[in-house]
Amino acid sequence: MGKFHLLNSSKEKTTEYKLVRVKSAWTCKEKHSHTGPKACVSAAKIYESLTDKGTCWTVVTPIIFSYKVTETHGLLDPCNSTLLTGHTHEPQQADTLRIPTKPIRRFVVVDQEVYRIYGTQISTYFESNNVTCKILALPTTEENKSMEMALKILEELNSFTIDRRTEPVIAIGGGVCLDIVAWLPPLPTTLLSYIDASVGAKTGVNFANCKNKIGAYIPPVATYLDLSFIKTIPRRHISNGLAEMLKMALMKHKELFELLEKHGQHLLESKFQSDSNVFGQSSQSASRSTRLAIITMLEELAPNLWEDDLDRLVDFGHLVSPALEMRVLPSLLHGEAVNIDMAYMVYVSRESGLLTDEEKNRIISCMVGLELPVWHQACTMELIQSSLQDRLKHSGGLVRMPLPVGLGQAEIFNNTSYEILNSAYEKWCNELSIPVDV
Ligand SMILES: NC(=O)c1ccc[n+]([C@@H]2O[C@H](COP(=O)([O-])OP(=O)(O)OC[C@H]3O[C@@H](n4cnc5c(N)ncnc54)[C@H](O)[C@@H]3O)[C@@H](O)[C@H]2O)c1
Ligand SMILES: [Zn+2]
Repeated sequence: MGKFHLLNSSKEKTTEYKLVRVKSAWTCKEKHSHTGPKACVSAAKIYESLTDKGTCWTVVTPIIFSYKVTETHGLLDPCNSTLLTGHTHEPQQADTLRIPTKPIRRFVVVDQEVYRIYGTQISTYFESNNVTCKILALPTTEENKSMEMALKILEELNSFTIDRRTEPVIAIGGGVCLDIVAWLPPLPTTLLSYIDASVGAKTGVNFANCKNKIGAYIPPVATYLDLSFIKTIPRRHISNGLAEMLKMALMKHKELFELLEKHGQHLLESKFQSDSNVFGQSSQSASRSTRLAIITMLEELAPNLWEDDLDRLVDFGHLVSPALEMRVLPSLLHGEAVNIDMAYMVYVSRESGLLTDEEKNRIISCMVGLELPVWHQACTMELIQSSLQDRLKHSGGLVRMPLPVGLGQAEIFNNTSYEILNSAYEKWCNELSIPVDV
């Protein structure tokens, strides 16, 4: 959350207060005043400064968010109660939910395509558990990822009415569905949303032709990861998710990179299904790679959930790709645009002397092996420059460019010259461009 500074000029007198509950009222007490062992003291503090102009109060409220990211299976098996009670943090709370005093109600938003495939299973699950539910199946596509769609969901939610504290809304779908529905225990059904969109706190919709322009940082109360949904995903969407996985590998995990390099094709073919009799080694690579992708992502997100620190390795591949994705919508999927951005940045790293030629070639071959695009004609030098300019504006005047400095390691750079950006662009185009029919 916001950083806190106490300005203590010589003219200013600051008093620190703790907050103590007296009967029902919270009351300011001076920092060293006696409160007794049973007193209810808040972790929040109020600082009061008297200045020439008047009084200034500074409120410091530590807010702790805790949410669960749970790997599971058989989520839609009617005997599995995870989806109904798994979001609770205390066992007694789960027990009271299991023996409800009033009928359980759930508002469920499902991606339309997911509903076509899993709709019967979803309805049966809730019916068998005597849940009164409203299932809203919507075309949650990138083109529809808008405020209008978010408002439509809110209108439906308003007319169904739920108890905000005890009846969480459930989102079932890919990254778009989870990003729009935002507040809820998500059930990711694409690889991309499994390892990325569902594990953090960021939500949003596109606005004014800009990607994720309106949004909020709200972690879900819980996220359930069930790999079995991935089996019905088209192959192109598996590659799409592998791009975000590769991002984490390139930034911080050499083993994950080597796993993707070696088993990428198996993962694409087996669709991450862990049937060891059929897929042998690749089944292990499925669970290992998803686990590494999730933990490396959580490591970066947990200490910086609100992005106070703008130096973020997870921004790799996301400097130029948002503008590229929006410019050619709907022809590139999110992960594909991210990969094109990463491929160019790998050339920037090479030109900066941070990667050897061999390392650069291994990364590009791995991308090709994952069936991801490594170049696009719409990713022009002009688009790259305007994206970086935009980044300067929104990132406190620094470009904060994450670049690989070897396999599975990265650093943030602020002073990459135009000459390097340009020579990287030329080499990138010379080596990877595909002639386009006009
Ligand atoms: N919030 C975050 O931190 C975060 C991180 C990464 C990406 N994102 C966002 O995620 C979005 C992309 O997510 P996505 O790639 O999951 O796209 P998506 O939600 O559009 O889903 C891709 C396609 O797969 C279909 N589908 C979903 N599950 C399926 C299943 N089990 N079987 C068959 N088809 C299925 C959907 O109908 C859709 O056509 C982008 O908008 C991106 O901005 C958000
Ligand atoms: Zn992304």
